[in-house]
Amino acid sequence: MNILVIHGPNLNLLGKREPEIYGRLTLAEINSLIKNFASSKNARTRIFQSNCEGKLIDLIQKNSGWADWLVINPAAYTHYGYAIADAISATGLAAVEVHLTDIKKREAFRRKSVIAPVCRKQICGLGVQSYLKAVDFCCSSKKPRA
Ligand code: DQA
Repeated sequence: MNILVIHGPNLNLLGKREPEIYGRLTLAEINSLIKNFASSKNARTRIFQSNCEGKLIDLIQKNSGWADWLVINPAAYTHYGYAIADAISATGLAAVEVHLTDIKKREAFRRKSVIAPVCRKQICGLGVQSYLKAVDFCCSSKKPRA
């Protein structure tokens, strides 16, 4: 299974970004947990982070031929990033949306996801475990494309 993992804006600051909300793990630490967990399930990963919506879209498009699944934390784009939702639909990638925090229990603007309708699943509120659960879901599902 090939899994494309994409982190959106400001997630490069994890570790020092509002640790009381997002925890103390850095993005590098999270990425190595994802990589190790995925390889324990015989899955390959490509992991990227960008603060720019267009770059995130380019990454989805460029890796869509390789990836069986997309695991994406769109960060703030979750709430208004229609172009990212369109990129997921346009490439036909099977996607899982993840969040470190439980967006449904946070500020009103965070409660709506414009990405969720184009994803197979949303996992949130579990910190780094949200990513690992998403990888587990991908690995235990049938390959979405032959
Ligand atoms: C987040 C939640 C978003 O609302 C926020 O903008 C983020 C992180 C999360 O992982 O909990 O940057 O996606």
